This record gives sequence, C-alpha cells and structure tokens, in this order.
Amino acid sequence: MPDVYTVLGQDHAEVKQMLAELENGPTRTGGASTAQLEDRKKLVQQLVIAESKHEAVEEEFFWPVVRDLSGGAELADHGTSQEQAAKLELDRLDKLDPADDEFEALIRGIAKAGRAHIAFEEEKVWPLLRAKLNSSGAENLGMQLLRAKDTAPTRPHPEVPPRPGILKATGPAAAAINGTYLLVVGTNKQLYIAHAGVTGFTSAGGTTTVSPALTSVPGALVGFMRGTTNEAYYHKFLSTTPGWHSMGGTLGSGLAAAALGTTTYTLGLSAGTSVYRDTGTWTTYPPKLSGWVKVAG
Ligand SMILES: [Fe+2]
Ligand SMILES: [Fe+2]
Repeated sequence: MPDVYTVLGQDHAEVKQMLAELENGPTRTGGASTAQLEDRKKLVQQLVIAESKHEAVEEEFFWPVVRDLSGGAELADHGTSQEQAAKLELDRLDKLDPADDEFEALIRGIAKAGRAHIAFEEEKVWPLLRAKLNSSGAENLGMQLLRAKDTAPTRPHPEVPPRPGILKATGPAAAAINGTYLLVVGTNKQLYIAHAGVTGFTSAGGTTTVSPALTSVPGALVGFMRGTTNEAYYHKFLSTTPGWHSMGGTLGSGLAAAALGTTTYTLGLSAGTSVYRDTGTWTTYPPKLSGWVKVAG
C-alpha cells in the first residue's frame, strides 16, 4: 500500500516535470509556432489541474495531521500560506493566453515558488512526520490522499480559505442566485455559507451532523437543516432577518429542498423510513409552513 510520502512524492515529481517543460518550452518571443503555443496552453491546464488537486487533498488531510504534531503548527501555517499564494498565481495563469505578455513571467514565478514549496514539504515537513507517524499511519494517510484525489477540485479556488476540515464533515448543498451559493458543515458541526468565487466561507450559525439543503425563492436563499436535536430548521439568507427557525418534526436524515416560484418543498426521512414533506410559502416572512406531511414510505 503506498504511503503518504509515495503518494505526495509522485505528485511532486510530476509537477516538477511539468514546470521544467514549461520553463524550457518554446515561447512566443522565442518564435514558437501557433501549434506550439497551443500545446503550451494545454500543458498549463494540466499543471493547474495537477496542482489544484494535490494542494486540495493536502489541505484536507495532510496539513491537519502535521498541525497536530508538536512543532507542526508553524510548518502547517507556512506551507498553507505558500499554497494560498500559488492558487492566486495559478488562477491568474489559467485565464491567460500564451500570447499575453504576462504569461511567461507568471510561469517563471510559479516554477520557482513551486519548487521551493515542494522542497519545504519534503525537507522540512516530511522529516517531522516520519519521526512521529508509524508505517501504518503513513499508509492510512496515503490511502486517504489517494481516495480524495478522485473528487478533488481541478481549479485553484483561491477564494476558499485553507481551513482544514471545513469542507469534509458532510456533503455540501448548492443553490443559485446570481451565481452559486454553497452551504457546508464543518467538523465543528457548524454551518458555513459562501458565494462561490465571490466570497469565502462565513459562519451561518446553527449546528448539525447531516447534510443541509439549500434552495432559492425569488430574492432569497433558503437553507434547511436538521439540528442536533433532530428537528428541522429553516434560514432565509440574503435578508435582514437571518437566523435558524424551527420547523419541528423528528427527522432521521439530512434534508433535501426544491422551490417552485415562491413555494419551497423540503423533504426528510422520519425517524422511521417514511419521507415527509413540509411546504413553505415565502410571499411573506416568516414563511407560512404546512407542517410535516407523509408523502411516501
Ligand atoms: Fe503542498
Ligand atoms: Fe505537496
């Protein structure tokens, strides 16, 4: 079973190979053909995907382990701040064309910083981890990283703070009003909301242990979640009267929600196996709720 050093080391080797190819490759000012510049753009896209996935899984699983070691917090702070800076640069590069003046300078900067970051991890962080983590711990972490890479983001997302764990407690919920909003649960059971690409995650209050729901009615986002007492709550976002309000019930699952016009439909499993629905009319606030009605099971 590959351990953490094998998994991350392979990624590092691949990234370094791509960086070297980009540094040595034909440039616009060096007389590259259109086809060569297209290949250069493709290589940049591969680099962006590889680095985005790699740093995302490190943020989720590698840095939290390092941070917990004695002497690890400073290393984790330094490493994640290097990654955050790299995300901004990669995001910028991803949007440029090889014919842009800024393109080559960005590549040089990214290559230099990328090598320094890899050296920092391998030479400063890995030795601490090797001293503290036994071989089965190193293999478990390696497997976690491999699994997470399957679903890791392929874009840099510099707007998402490198706060380990914020995104991995439950599945996220998404809804759209002028872009996508995300509602997620942190490992501290608290809910966080972000306008993807516009804001970072901010606390939305409330606590839950299951996936929340999010949908939109004209002019507002509405979140639904099962609280830690198993009853349901709603929250009208983008309004001046926020806060979670009880919908009652005793639910055995996270919730799903959809909206048609100004009406929301919230679904959840009862403590047994029946599906219950609560219908809300949002023409006034607070909304008019129907109460939980069994619809299946
Ligand atoms: Fe990293
Ligand atoms: Fe790394």
